[in-house]
Amino acid sequence: MRVEPVPELVGHIAVPGDKSISHRAVLVGAISAGAVTVEGFGRSADTEATIAAVRALGVEVIEHDVDALTVLGVGLRGLRPPAEPIDCRNAGTLMRLLAGILAGQRGRFELRGDASLSARPMERIAEPLRRMGARVETTDGHAPIVVEGSGKPLAAISYELPVASSQVKSAILLAGLYAEDETTVVEPVPTRDHTERLLERAGARVRRRGRAVSIGPVRRLRPVAIEIPGDFSSAAPFLVAAAIVPGSRVTVHGVGLNPRRTGLLGVLERMGARIAIYNRRSIGGEPAGDVEVVSSELVGTTIDAEEVPTLVDELPLFALAACHARGESVVRGAGELRVKESDRIETVVDGLRRVGARIRATDDGFRVLGVPARLRGGVFEAHGDHRLAMLGAIAGVASREGIDVAGAEAVEVSFPGFYAILA
Ligand code: S3P
Repeated sequence: MRVEPVPELVGHIAVPGDKSISHRAVLVGAISAGAVTVEGFGRSADTEATIAAVRALGVEVIEHDVDALTVLGVGLRGLRPPAEPIDCRNAGTLMRLLAGILAGQRGRFELRGDASLSARPMERIAEPLRRMGARVETTDGHAPIVVEGSGKPLAAISYELPVASSQVKSAILLAGLYAEDETTVVEPVPTRDHTERLLERAGARVRRRGRAVSIGPVRRLRPVAIEIPGDFSSAAPFLVAAAIVPGSRVTVHGVGLNPRRTGLLGVLERMGARIAIYNRRSIGGEPAGDVEVVSSELVGTTIDAEEVPTLVDELPLFALAACHARGESVVRGAGELRVKESDRIETVVDGLRRVGARIRATDDGFRVLGVPARLRGGVFEAHGDHRLAMLGAIAGVASREGIDVAGAEAVEVSFPGFYAILA
């Protein structure tokens, strides 16, 4: 995809429904005690993999429109082992959360993924699920994984997460629905809490105390109507573009503003960005609003481990903003970036360098020396990673000579309409 530089970006847009919540809506819908309607579903390759997965497990999903579904829940223990392995494609959220649910079912379930997903760590969910009494096998720590449940109640555990990961937390909480007693997860740093919010709405007993979150077993999940706000992570490329391209003013409407997801806004403000939020409201039990960003001169900043989970998927875009900000910017304590859809420390640093940035990798992050000027441009390789494909495109609009994004089709994973909205 060739992306030409633009003099400025001006406009009002909306983005598709949140991917994290869309996965959870279909998965929780599948084990609810009846029909769950979903509006604002964020359709993408990832979330279609989740629809296909629950269908393979015997759940009927009616698609009324691209963004409207009904999931006919089969109840907590109603999932049936398919003859074939379940293909999670590129979706880490699907594989890890589904494993937690399957631990409470009866039967043998095999989960597979594409080459990228098969390179990502899976012992991080297998280990706690085994402690709860499920049989979980990984392939040398990776997918394919096999989950075998007896259908009997799992053991309730109290588990200190070794890594700040919402996917791991969610897998344990979902398995906790099937436990004998209350299950507790203690997080090193707070991560996104969409699972907790949704399960609470469906009638589960969720307790939060500081860094700990507990869930009690349930007899049934109440079927609820789920409305999904726009995906902050899909809004982020446009917000960063508006911040770095002089003369820009962009508003993204109806976007999710869960504080555990919007760390990028605080970071951009610290850098001097002009950000306003209008029409604050609640969409489906999640904070939401309209976000406006107006371009301004930026200065560098530092991001430490405690802040990382609130913008983990936006750190590639932060790197680009930092290239345009005066002075040095640093990201530390973000080793998790190495086990995302690509090694995002290497792919971001290599990609931005090739188009003219002064950035270097560290073990657990990167350092950027920024100047308030356009990057040169050139060829940007997406490495099959959707967030990289969007990063390359935004780097292109903000560049002097334009950028050819190689592997641009990776945007299909989370945001098929990305280029159309950018255009
Ligand atoms: C997600 C959690 C994050 C994030 C991923 C989606 C989720 O991963 O990077 O894109 O939906 O729970 P980790 O929880 O593993 O950090």
